[in-house]
Amino acid sequence: MFRQAKWNEPLVFELGAPGRIGIALPELDEEIKVIVGEPRIPSSMRRSAPPQLPELSEVEVIRHFTRLTQMSYGVDNGPVPLGSCTMKYNPRIAWDIAFDSRIAELHPLQDERTVQGLLEIMYELQKWLANIVGMDVCTLHPAAGAHGELVGVLIIRKYHEIKNQLEKKTDIIVPDSAHGTNPASAAMAGFRVIEVPTGEDGNVDMEALKSAVSESTAGLMITNPSTLGLFEERILKIADLVHEYDALLYYDGANLNGIMGYARPGDMGFDIAHINVHKTFSSPHGGGGPGAGPVCIKDRIVDPERNIWLKDLLPGYVVVYDEERGFYRLRGPGPHSIGLLKAFFANTIPLVWAYIYILIMGPQGLRKATEHAVLLTNYFAKLVSEIRGFEIPYGKGRFRKHEVVLSTKPMADEVGVTAEDVAKGLLDVGLYAPTMYFPLIVKETLQIEFTETETPENIEKYVARLREISEIAYKNPLEPKNWPVNTSVRRINVAKANHPKHVAPTWRVFMKKLRGELE
Ligand SMILES: Cc1ncc(COP(=O)(O)O)c(C=O)c1O
Repeated sequence: MFRQAKWNEPLVFELGAPGRIGIALPELDEEIKVIVGEPRIPSSMRRSAPPQLPELSEVEVIRHFTRLTQMSYGVDNGPVPLGSCTMKYNPRIAWDIAFDSRIAELHPLQDERTVQGLLEIMYELQKWLANIVGMDVCTLHPAAGAHGELVGVLIIRKYHEIKNQLEKKTDIIVPDSAHGTNPASAAMAGFRVIEVPTGEDGNVDMEALKSAVSESTAGLMITNPSTLGLFEERILKIADLVHEYDALLYYDGANLNGIMGYARPGDMGFDIAHINVHKTFSSPHGGGGPGAGPVCIKDRIVDPERNIWLKDLLPGYVVVYDEERGFYRLRGPGPHSIGLLKAFFANTIPLVWAYIYILIMGPQGLRKATEHAVLLTNYFAKLVSEIRGFEIPYGKGRFRKHEVVLSTKPMADEVGVTAEDVAKGLLDVGLYAPTMYFPLIVKETLQIEFTETETPENIEKYVARLREISEIAYKNPLEPKNWPVNTSVRRINVAKANHPKHVAPTWRVFMKKLRGELE
């Protein structure tokens, strides 16, 4: 029987007392004071009072966070089958190396001569990533997948600007199965978003795409395999169509784990691709610190007269190797670059993590990872398709890649038990719920991705619970409405939890709301 730990744990701001400390930092010695000098922050921008930080002893901090972890769940507890998130295990050896003080304690303003080792790692990683996605050049600058998308669409914008055709290139096309960040990134870059539907076979509806593409098309963003876990079978035709109108094809690499080592976006006709290293290459997801979303491009001429190439548009820095001097250095951003999209070079720790992962796996290992991920997905899909109340919409009979999208619509229609109820039934026995209600084109959605990390036994256990949930739902449909009962937090009101009136992302906002200063 599973019972999650339940502590009535206050917020860290409600713990401690003024003057209590967990660590005593040494005084700055004179030599460092000379190097650091006077603070360069303009006085108008300095705080008038010290920040209101919690003041706790070491033991209070340790107990607080230990209790929180006991109420939590992560990939070290069991499978986290969040579709489209590729929550694979994060190998400890990569952790040890990425957090080695010789890497983790380097300063971004350090002289290049003193960080040659790290630059060599980044240089190699650029090359490996380019090779894996079949592109020519990568920048490691962006801080996440979504940030990579913004970089991608800004490159598309700049491409048309340099070609003096931005005025007419107003549209970015996005399939309706796309992750919300795709249309959001396109809109942020000033484009009009045109949505194209998905056909019953799970591919983009080609007729609809043909009528959407026009002289106004600046680019098309596609996730392949899609968020339905299906490979876009007409990708070569789509690439030709898009290029016919001098538009660029953008690859959302969130689902690279479904094809890694087997197919490369660059060979499919994509011009730009982002890679979520925290998904495919096992760096921990956001909660573990800043992320990274490298962007790779096919280098091609943009303006022959001025000799401007697509690589000149990349943001931030690229590590280059000066063979004569045997020296690595950072290049960019040049005059045609879209500029800096964050401070400094890149978030190096998740990148070192990805480097170690690729190094350990090697080309054969990466292929094997994909094989196992795909095999397990299809094993799961087969088992679950036999359970009453579940169905697998789109692409009937097709093999899935890294993930499968289930719908509990039959169960919801027949007995009123929804995808949310099913998810809570999983939590109740110590299993993690999948991504829910995404992609938006499927009703009562559960989007499931186990990754190569899981064992067949874990998949069977998951399926057994889904079967049990189905039996309970058809026997006593009111019971699932009460789930979960064994977790530290019972069912929350999701509508309320998403309402701006109730959301307090920081302690300061929470206090302001409490004092009635914010609506
Ligand atoms: C298909 C897809 N595209 C883009 C993203 C955005 O990536 P990130 O979370 O790294 O910003 C996600 C994230 O889950 C995704 O699933």
